[in-house]
Amino acid sequence: MASALISIRVEGDKIEIVDQLLLPHVTRYIEINSPEDAHDAIKTMKIRGAPAIASLASLSFSRYLTRALHQVPLPEFLATAEGIRGHVYPILDYLYTARPTAVNLGNATRRLKKLLEDLIAAKEEPKAIVDALIAEGKLVSDEDLGRNKAMAKWGGDWLINRAQPSSPKTLNVLTVCNTGSLATSGYGTALGLITYLHEVGQLDKAYFTQTTPYHQGSRLTALELKTLQIPSVMICDTMVGSLFQHFPIHAVAVGADRIARNGDTANKIGTYNAAVIAARHNIPFIVVAPISTVDLDIESGEKIPIEQRPALEACLVRGAIYPPQGDKVEQAQVMITPTGLEGIYNPSFDVTPAELITAIVTEKGVAVKKDGEKTFDLTPIV
Ligand code: MRU
Repeated sequence: MASALISIRVEGDKIEIVDQLLLPHVTRYIEINSPEDAHDAIKTMKIRGAPAIASLASLSFSRYLTRALHQVPLPEFLATAEGIRGHVYPILDYLYTARPTAVNLGNATRRLKKLLEDLIAAKEEPKAIVDALIAEGKLVSDEDLGRNKAMAKWGGDWLINRAQPSSPKTLNVLTVCNTGSLATSGYGTALGLITYLHEVGQLDKAYFTQTTPYHQGSRLTALELKTLQIPSVMICDTMVGSLFQHFPIHAVAVGADRIARNGDTANKIGTYNAAVIAARHNIPFIVVAPISTVDLDIESGEKIPIEQRPALEACLVRGAIYPPQGDKVEQAQVMITPTGLEGIYNPSFDVTPAELITAIVTEKGVAVKKDGEKTFDLTPIV
């Protein structure tokens, strides 16, 4: 199998991310030197995808502390546990504000704060506290790959068994946005499930929406599937209904930015549309996401904060000038609306009610609703 794209490269304490705004035509890695760099890269979507942004934030935090430990003289805040708390809380709070919908980012910063409080309560030495925080920040990123592979297998096997109890045939799966190695620390969530089906010879084709206005589908998922040599078909966002009417689609698999306790799921804008049409066609709709995406503090989808992106982003298409001039790639942003257009609605995410979701797949297994229930109870699995 061809090797996957890498979103975050770490070598020693050097962190680099591939600038996803330039993909698929230009592959340029940029260095992340500080929590401010990480915040900016997340906010401007040079890196995106719920698990990937949590990983980058945590890694940039670890790197910040590692560099602080090597400074001569040692920064004053490292002398006491209270000094560490007073210094790192604002950094974690700041990282948390980069994007509001994906709960993974908040989970990561809360997890680091909790560890800090536990170590202070245990009266650990300042150096031991900082070492532990550095290790934990790295762990947030490192643990992502293994759990992605686990959930891909859970979800893939469940789908194979469900879809073909008697007549084995390969599966067609539609996905939305980009949930692959670019959106995570590797392998991906929903795209991981599709990759798994391909690896075990059970995938016919991956279908994916372009995912306007940011085109995570046509720019990123297309590139990932092409790199992995997985047979695929792109559709425009408006074509989901037509696809279901004319082709046998066995499942829709999507990622998630935040899953409420009852299973309502926030994911990339357009996910809800696909879920409504899938229900109409009786096609299983599967959410694939790590446990850290489930937010038990939020009872239902109404309470999930939805990020509104700048209006201008919905007026622009970003890409390379066509036709290409030899090997030269010229990047451009093209305006597709009259200038000065007012009244633009540009939410980055929508919420799919649990009622429309057939299964929620995490690294712990496949959760389904009890017979006759419209919602999930995710409390026991978290
Ligand atoms: O705005 P984005 O590109 O960060 O949105 C990404 C999504 O909605 C993904 O489906 C979600 O984060 C899961 S990524 C494994």
